[in-house]
Amino acid sequence: MNFQILPSLLAADYGHLADEIRRVEAAGADQLHLDIMDAHFVPNLSFGPDMVALAKRISPALLRNVHLMMTRPDLYCERFIDAGATTVQIHVEADCDCWDVLTRIRARGIRAGLVSRPQTPVTALYPYLHLCDEVLFMTVNPGYGGQAFMPEVLPKIAALRARIKSQEYRCDIMVDGGINLETACACAQHGANQFVTGSFLFKQQDMTTAIRTMRTACAAAHQ
Ligand code: DX5
Ligand code: ZN
Repeated sequence: MNFQILPSLLAADYGHLADEIRRVEAAGADQLHLDIMDAHFVPNLSFGPDMVALAKRISPALLRNVHLMMTRPDLYCERFIDAGATTVQIHVEADCDCWDVLTRIRARGIRAGLVSRPQTPVTALYPYLHLCDEVLFMTVNPGYGGQAFMPEVLPKIAALRARIKSQEYRCDIMVDGGINLETACACAQHGANQFVTGSFLFKQQDMTTAIRTMRTACAAAHQ
């Protein structure tokens, strides 16, 4: 089981994006998480494929984990893959054929992820688990960084970990929203192994130590 820390670029200083991307890579992050918001699926608008291309140009070796908070990811997923995404995640609540889109993402030779809002039952994910390399549980309502962690999502994580084990799937379990050292460990105790963190991490003076500490603590806490 590998434990990964993914800084969310949404929380970076937009006046110094290239430096922030280099800072994330130098700090030993496992991947860079890029939040794409369409002002329809979520009440916010962030950035598009050009930001993925920037990240690839600045730090080609840093994996690019692209979270599509979009109503119609079927219309745009190829543009993010062409821009350099190494993972594309779509929401199970999106208005598209998730089976088809996840299959199309994998056909391009990159990782496919499926995301659920806090309120969505974990069972909604079950028909797609064989098509996913990772499942992302939102631990806040998607759309903004800096929100409070929602502990009611924890049982969903445990239920999926049990399902993956019983059905011998191989997908990773990722969490995203209000993740700090304490909430990351709580998620690890319930079975998560990948951790997206924005506001907590970008406000650290020593990002390297913060990433190493979170990764080590989660590995120790993991069930
Ligand atoms: C929220 C995004 C998250 C967010 C995390 O819709 O999907 O990735 O940027 O930010 P924090 O860690 O500050 O909650
Ligand atoms: Zn995200």
